[in-house]
Amino acid sequence: MVELIVPQKTQEDQHRAANPENSAWVSANAGSGKTYVLALRVIHLMLSGTAPSRILCLTFTKAAAAEMSNRVFEKLSHWAMLDDAELAKEITKVTGHPATTKLLRRGRQLFALALDTPGGLKIQTVHAFCEALLHQFPLEANVSGHFQVLDDFAQKALLEESRKRILLKANRGDEILSGAFETAMNFGSDDAMFKALDRLVSEREAFLDWADIGVDVAMAPMFDHFQMSANS
Ligand SMILES: Nc1ncnc2c1ncn2[C@@H]1O[C@H](COP(=O)(O)OP(=O)(O)O)[C@@H](O)[C@H]1O
Ligand SMILES: [Mg+2]
Repeated sequence: MVELIVPQKTQEDQHRAANPENSAWVSANAGSGKTYVLALRVIHLMLSGTAPSRILCLTFTKAAAAEMSNRVFEKLSHWAMLDDAELAKEITKVTGHPATTKLLRRGRQLFALALDTPGGLKIQTVHAFCEALLHQFPLEANVSGHFQVLDDFAQKALLEESRKRILLKANRGDEILSGAFETAMNFGSDDAMFKALDRLVSEREAFLDWADIGVDVAMAPMFDHFQMSANS
């Protein structure tokens, strides 16, 4: 296998960013070692005595979280099986200092420690973290205690269902609703209207804020603009 030659300067930069004593912001090209640095940083933290349960790593994608987690656990499981001399070399690579007996023992135990931690070492997406937070503090966040996050598929199905119900209601003689549909249909195709409805639902918070003053009042400037009356 060809060994990767990492320039001295890069190695120093990587170590600076991986040192938990430094607060670091890293921006670098793909494949340049960002994930490597993050994994190193987590291992360095644990090696210095931080309990795995006190470490939180957030990523944007599930794939990135899985990769981070794999890298940390791969390294730690590898460490558990090395002899003292090899482990000492690995630890020096992380800390930049010669390994003490205490660090050797700690390094060897980290794999078991990270696995045994209740709740595990937390490497997760920012979405998963926020969801867990909302589940823990529903009262403070003013959400229902047993909420579930809709996936795209379920959301589409629910929207379809409510759209059907509104059409049925209009069809069954709800005058205001059928009048509104008729007006809207005069301005565009049904496809355009459904697209507009989808958009409206996806931005419902903003819409509800806007409509808070009353739909008629809120709509007045638009009626003015198109020189229509609310009743036409
Ligand atoms: N200092 C280093 N020593 C050995 N391998 C490294 C080093 N820095 C990066 N690598 C390797 O380079 C590859 C790309 O790094 P990675 O962390 O995935 O980059 P990025 O996250 O920036 O896309 C990985 O296989 C990683 O292990
Ligand atoms: Mg990466």
